[in-house]
Amino acid sequence: MIKVDNLWLTYHSGKERVPAARGVTLDVKQGQFVTLLGPSGCGKTTTLRCIAGLEQPDEGAITIGDELVFSAASGAWVPPFRRNIGMVFQSYAIWPHMSVFDNVAFPLLHLKPRPKKAQIQERVLRVLDLVQLGNYANRPAPHLSGGQQQRLALARALVAEPRVLLLDEPLSNLDAKLRDEMRIEIRDLAKRLNVTTLLVTHEQIEALTMSDVVAVMKDGLIVQAGTPTEIYSRPKDLYVAQFVGRTNLIQARRTSLESADKIRVSVETDLGAVICTASASYDIRLPTTVAIRPEDIEMLDSGEDGSSDNVFEGRVEKVVFLGESVDCFFQVQNIPLVLKVHPARAPASGVNIRVRFPVARCLAMPV
Ligand SMILES: Nc1ncnc2c1ncn2[C@@H]1O[C@H](COP(=O)(O)OP(=O)(O)OP(=O)(O)O)[C@@H](O)[C@H]1O
Ligand SMILES: [Mg+2]
Repeated sequence: MIKVDNLWLTYHSGKERVPAARGVTLDVKQGQFVTLLGPSGCGKTTTLRCIAGLEQPDEGAITIGDELVFSAASGAWVPPFRRNIGMVFQSYAIWPHMSVFDNVAFPLLHLKPRPKKAQIQERVLRVLDLVQLGNYANRPAPHLSGGQQQRLALARALVAEPRVLLLDEPLSNLDAKLRDEMRIEIRDLAKRLNVTTLLVTHEQIEALTMSDVVAVMKDGLIVQAGTPTEIYSRPKDLYVAQFVGRTNLIQARRTSLESADKIRVSVETDLGAVICTASASYDIRLPTTVAIRPEDIEMLDSGEDGSSDNVFEGRVEKVVFLGESVDCFFQVQNIPLVLKVHPARAPASGVNIRVRFPVARCLAMPV
């Protein structure tokens, strides 16, 4: 539904050249919910603005549905108002001098042919109901709470029944509880309306909970795209592993193959040999790091057999209670590590523990 092919865009700010998109390639299927995830300044908004037609890229091509809306090679260009896109901007951009109703009606007034007054009335009220603002139609827009304004921006983006919805950090101004609720609401709504959605965020939790596909961006490029599970449990490199969730990193000295298919490798570290699963882009000749998530480290009971691979003995340094779980900071051979356990299993500070790194969960990846 949205195809972005090798998009390049450099901003010119005075004498400075800022390369914001450096070959972005992305394919969003009809009805899919895709998230661009990356740190501030990596080119997320730039990519969305190019798709919406608010920026003209230097290179590349963009197709929406069957329509080529931009091509540097052929000179194709469809202006933003003809792209049939709904967009929620990073700052909502609702109009403060208008009522809730008029804000939502606005995009319909610019449709050709313009719908009749009764139709506008019906469509606005329907979409306001959808975002649970049916009772607020006549209120001045600034007299809404942050969460309500956010839903108003969403209603305005949806009212013209766009084929594509672009959402730029739509939850960033909300408090934590509202954000939790809106994440689920927005995803449900997009799925119910079967609208193809591209969301931009720097919050990994948003990307993991809302998306069918997460595309992780770095310096104007998508470095890995996959399902939330793939991105989280099979990060391609250290950048993705560290950006999406917490992870323990153990430096490697030497690596050798354990199995001929290159999937199992034995990595020599300061802990001793760690048997790992290799990431897709792993090359045995490159400097290596072992990555394992805190929740993947198993703590063995005192009587439990520890003769399998990757069992180590460590000493608990600190235990931090988080309510639903406990972070246990411990050391093995002076290497600091952290594991996550249920509070009922939390060890005391200062005791010795035995831990197991399950081979399937230990990733050897290039540094
Ligand atoms: N109008 C502009 N002129 C010059 N440079 C710009 C302009 N807009 C953005 N940039 C630069 O382009 C790069 C990408 O910006 P972009 O807004 O796409 O980042 P982002 O990933 O959306 O970041 P954030 O999470 O902070 O919103 C940044 O280095 C930014 O400073
Ligand atoms: Mg941005």
